Amino acid sequence: MTAIISASILSADWSRLGKQIDEAQTAGVDWIHVDVMDGQFVPNITMGPFIVETCRRITSLPIEAHLMTITPERHLESFAAAGASLLSVHVETCPHLHRTIQNIHELGCKAGVVLNPGTPAESISAVLHLVDLVLVMTVNPGFSGQEFLPDVTPKIRQIRQMLDAIQSEAWLEVDGGISHTTLPETYAAGARAFVAATAIFKHSQGIAAGVQALRRAIPA
Ligand code: DX5
Ligand code: ZN
Repeated sequence: MTAIISASILSADWSRLGKQIDEAQTAGVDWIHVDVMDGQFVPNITMGPFIVETCRRITSLPIEAHLMTITPERHLESFAAAGASLLSVHVETCPHLHRTIQNIHELGCKAGVVLNPGTPAESISAVLHLVDLVLVMTVNPGFSGQEFLPDVTPKIRQIRQMLDAIQSEAWLEVDGGISHTTLPETYAAGARAFVAATAIFKHSQGIAAGVQALRRAIPA
């Protein structure tokens, strides 16, 4: 497996969520991405642990909970209990980032750290050796369907170099505006995990066509 495609259910048709996740899984997505937004750290309000628990009953794929909330440490336990495989916290929300990562591991989950477009790569250098995933936001978080920000590409490259320098096997993931046209630029910069909502669930020819288009955009 050279690269991971993670389906963000934010753009799914919620009136038939089970079928949509089944379709994405059959089409070959690797992970399910759940965008948790609290209306405070980001402008939108979306899903909580109940949704993770629902997804867990639908699929056995790894579920990553992308926690766009203030004080995410208060909610780690409930997301882990709901069946999340990986918990990702924003560096901007975590004054005790080192402890928060430890707590995630103690709960038996993989730990990810997320950077907003305006947050420098250096902000995670002290915890890089501890994490299983670094998620670089390629839009300002809050909504699906936004345009990819090419300004972020040098930071993806920088974090790839930082990970390679310590021989880390952590995934380097990108999230926001990822499509078959923007994916190759992020791949070339070193990303190997790709979150997509619109490109999968809003593809004009359906979910399978969306996943295929992304898969084809990944260099062999
Ligand atoms: C944005 C979320 C993303 C979003 C991606 O705040 O973190 O996961 O769902 O949506 P697209 O792929 O449409 O940009
Ligand atoms: Zn996300």
